[in-house]
Amino acid sequence: MRFLLPVLILLSSCASAQTNPEPPLIPRPVSITMAEGYFPVTSAVSIIIDSKELKSEGSYLRDVLATLLPEAPMLLPQRTIEGPVIALAISNDGEMPTEGYSLHITPERIDLVSSDRAGIFHGIQTLIQLLPPKGSETAVPCLTITDHPRFAWRGMHLDVSRHFFGVEFVKMYIDLLARYKMNRFHWHLTDDQGWRIEIKKYPKLTEVGAWRSGSQIGPYGRGEYDSIPYGGFYTQEQVREVVAYAAARHITVVPEIEMPGHAMAALAAYPEYSCKGGPFEVQKGWGVFEDVFCAGNDSTFSFLQDVLSEVMGLFPGEYIHIGGDECPKESWKACAKCQARMKSEGLKDEHELQSYVIQRIEKFVNAKGRKIIGWDEILEGGLAPNAAVMSWRGTEGGVAAAKSGHYAVMSPGSHCYFDHYQGDPANEPLAIGGYTTVQKVYSYEPIPAELKADQAKYILGAQGNVWTEYILTPEQVEYMAVPRMLALAEVLWTPKDKRDEADFIKRLELEFPKLEATGVNASKSLYQVRIKPRQGNKPGTIELDMSSGTSRGTCMYRLEEGYDRPDRTQSIVNGFYQKTLLLNQSGRLEGYLTDTISDRWTEYPPSKQEFHFNLATAQKITTTPPPAERYSEGGAFTLVDGITAQEKRVNTEWLGWLKDVTITVDLGSEQDISHIGIGALNETYSWIHLPKQVEVSISSDGKNYSPLGSAEAKATVGRSEFVINKAVKARYVRLVVKHAGLIPEGFPGAGKQSWLFLDEIEVH
Ligand code: ACM
Ligand code: ZN
Repeated sequence: MRFLLPVLILLSSCASAQTNPEPPLIPRPVSITMAEGYFPVTSAVSIIIDSKELKSEGSYLRDVLATLLPEAPMLLPQRTIEGPVIALAISNDGEMPTEGYSLHITPERIDLVSSDRAGIFHGIQTLIQLLPPKGSETAVPCLTITDHPRFAWRGMHLDVSRHFFGVEFVKMYIDLLARYKMNRFHWHLTDDQGWRIEIKKYPKLTEVGAWRSGSQIGPYGRGEYDSIPYGGFYTQEQVREVVAYAAARHITVVPEIEMPGHAMAALAAYPEYSCKGGPFEVQKGWGVFEDVFCAGNDSTFSFLQDVLSEVMGLFPGEYIHIGGDECPKESWKACAKCQARMKSEGLKDEHELQSYVIQRIEKFVNAKGRKIIGWDEILEGGLAPNAAVMSWRGTEGGVAAAKSGHYAVMSPGSHCYFDHYQGDPANEPLAIGGYTTVQKVYSYEPIPAELKADQAKYILGAQGNVWTEYILTPEQVEYMAVPRMLALAEVLWTPKDKRDEADFIKRLELEFPKLEATGVNASKSLYQVRIKPRQGNKPGTIELDMSSGTSRGTCMYRLEEGYDRPDRTQSIVNGFYQKTLLLNQSGRLEGYLTDTISDRWTEYPPSKQEFHFNLATAQKITTTPPPAERYSEGGAFTLVDGITAQEKRVNTEWLGWLKDVTITVDLGSEQDISHIGIGALNETYSWIHLPKQVEVSISSDGKNYSPLGSAEAKATVGRSEFVINKAVKARYVRLVVKHAGLIPEGFPGAGKQSWLFLDEIEVH
């Protein structure tokens, strides 16, 4: 074949300029212009820094290259020898936005310029992403990139209380953040299940508070625990080590010390700072606990301020996170000291008492030259004057903060909680609930639509949260965080008009082997085949949309028993696999992607779904009122989509209401009926209660209804059926579902409006 070579060279030199294809960078840069040729990265390269200031960044780059090359490149203050160079330089011309950089690669040299060290560091990350995997000949394509972040706060959170992760993993996690240009690490250090930071003045916080006698096993609400002692904490020396490690990667560590709620571990160690005085245990189970810091006791404030003083000594960042979420008010209501405080301070309710706690702490923190940030509950009862809000219960908290001139970091459960499921729960490790795919994260827009431009500037950015109730190991943290973190990194860095889901997915697929090569356990739920039913054109028929997040591989599907049928038509829409099947009878569907040769799935297990048809399935249905927006995905059709919702709840399977609902189904024609039923969920720890009753009536004309009776169900945990068994003829069936009203005493959320969750209607 040797003789072909000159011909090829001839061809390529005749052709117009052969610019390199755009490399698959994550996050996608602001601007990239490709050029011809390559810069060879060999041990002969010198890294040149223009000032001592860049020594840390230069060494970082040298150390990374040393792992790829036979010998580490030289790091020099200025050019002293001939040969290829990577030059890092700070430019003070004022043109470059904060954290921005420009990267210019020619066959002879690489110039990386920024106005700050962080920009140089981000540019180095881009350069590293351009390098081919270890073992191949190392060269990077010639190009020019100018780049800067869209948002200042690009965060990831890690809960080390519910499960503890040692310093080595925390550093790996920080490396992962750095790789995708994230710049805030929110370290959730204290909670009911363990206090994880050494405080010299209060040694019992870690002697007692860092250890629990067992841990919850399995899902919430079952009351099952093991009796294996569990715990751990970071010494102050280790904390300093982590803070320095992060700082070298231009990541600010934001420590969180929870108050006034989520305090059981602290109170187990120092019960005197509670209202009742204890004794308390470090909690084995997950949830929200009634005992909190006593707001009426001045010694509580001395304690919290002492703790925060040590914390501020360890963490140099601007913000200290003081928690503030999920603080029950029961113990304050029953505490003479708390009530006296409310009286002396003129506070009208316990929300204002919570606000008093936060404002008093804020004053202390501000006096030390720092600021507080807290979960959006700190808005209740009045926001502290200089506080920033982390909006987790939706976006309303962030909106309220920004409208009143307070900074906000967006972290809504809907898009930013990476403890939620990211694939079909049947194929995923047990998670807390929810359903947040990598595509959903990518679709997130951090600036809420209702903010005007002058308010939007208060949105600092957003953050992905990794709560670890159900995340037991470092591998599982990686699985839950990656690739969703990569999607969020691009949301936060890349200009809005340069975001493109299909393009991101393609780059992500090219990133998977690199993640694997560096030992990161990324989730491949991207490769799941999603099966989503919708109302068919004809009543009584369901159209099944099968889709995957990628066009790779062949989709195999199986309806009922029998052989797998490869989808030979391979319908690709907008770069992704998509197909619609029609269903008009009960059956089982499986769908999965394979590589094109073998008959096995390659990346992700098959998605399975059973469909049960009855007289109501895929018939015309209305609900008055419509379900609450939070629990409305799929609309009223969800109640007749042939799928019986499972106990293991993802939000898409159930519809939710906060009031009575009337449901009407048109069966299409007069039918012989012997059974009318509907399913409801009993999950009181999630504030979901069974309806009081379901009144059933029938009609032949859709106008005049005659009552058939009312159904009640046994309050079993999980799914219950409300059923009427009577032989009648009718075309229309109406169900009036009576909401349970306020949550009774003795249940979580007592006194609040309960949720009514409904799913499949059965008519036989
Ligand atoms: C939270 O998820 N409780 C902030
Ligand atoms: Zn009290």
